[in-house]
Amino acid sequence: MKKIALFSIGALVAGGAFAAPDWSKVPPRKMTLFYPGQASLEWVMNKPDHSAVPDIVDKKRSCAKCHEGDANEIGGKIVAGKPVGSSKTVLEPTPPAGKVGSIPVTFQAAHDGSKIYFRFEWVAPQGGTKKLDAKNEVKLTMMFDGGGTVEGAELNGCWATCHSDLRTMKDAKDDKTTKHIKNGDLASGKFMDLIQYRSGEKAPVDGYVTEARHMDGGKALLKAEGKKEGNKWVVTFERTLAGGGKGDHALTADKVYNFGFAIHEDFTNARFHYVSLGYQFGLDKPNPGVKNYIDIQKQ
Ligand code: HEC
Repeated sequence: MKKIALFSIGALVAGGAFAAPDWSKVPPRKMTLFYPGQASLEWVMNKPDHSAVPDIVDKKRSCAKCHEGDANEIGGKIVAGKPVGSSKTVLEPTPPAGKVGSIPVTFQAAHDGSKIYFRFEWVAPQGGTKKLDAKNEVKLTMMFDGGGTVEGAELNGCWATCHSDLRTMKDAKDDKTTKHIKNGDLASGKFMDLIQYRSGEKAPVDGYVTEARHMDGGKALLKAEGKKEGNKWVVTFERTLAGGGKGDHALTADKVYNFGFAIHEDFTNARFHYVSLGYQFGLDKPNPGVKNYIDIQKQ
């Protein structure tokens, strides 16, 4: 009897029915997440502040194209409260003491035909700043569109949702306004799907961003898990490709999806996070030459 039971578990794992991918076979992609301060969509798309606007708009240059190499320097300047951009704006009026400007993250992704898996690994930077979210040492949030459904996301990733009137941002009118998309609309797919891991909670958070940020409604995120070994964090997501809940994009092989992610490190919240530049992914679809594109292969 015992033998039979062991055999059937082995068969399930080998068949991949419930197994996570073998991450040692998935190509890692290094990304630098940086501290953006109050660098909202309005700021980055305003030419007097940011001389690159004509290149972004006319030449369709992505943020990553210009900033993959210097994101660490940008974060370093902003977090220290130094003036940046052509307008020499201070994008962090309250520099958090001791906070680093950027963190290198290793990103991996794979799928198995019915589910998609994401893995993020980084070393926790030095902490010690105010605990704004005492319940969660770490939150990792990923957003993606429905394959070109959010205007500008192919260039700027999550910046489409980040505005100067959000809570803790420059023109905030209240402490409640959260991420939103101009003319965001669930029915036409003009929204960012949002998945989140919270270190202080077991349940995965599956929401979306339209005219406001919604932290529930999704049914696609099966697992959001994380662990800290020594100083190293590993967070993984397991999500159905099909989606099906409110604010769930279906992920299919014929599209290219725009995404970005953010890490709230050291018990922080709101804008006091590290963010990635905008990236793209497709399923089993090589796209050589596009620097910020990731081909997610079937395992
Ligand atoms: C064509 C290249 C290019 C693109 C594309 C680009 N930038 Fe920049 N960015 C620059 C340059 C050059 C500066 C330096 C200041 C200036 O000239 O405005 C800069 C400055 C910045 C700064 C201030 C930090 C500093 O050192 O001055 C931020 C923040 C920033 N960019 C974010 C973004 C984001 C977000 C995007 C995508 C929406 C983006 N950039 C797209 C070239 C680019």
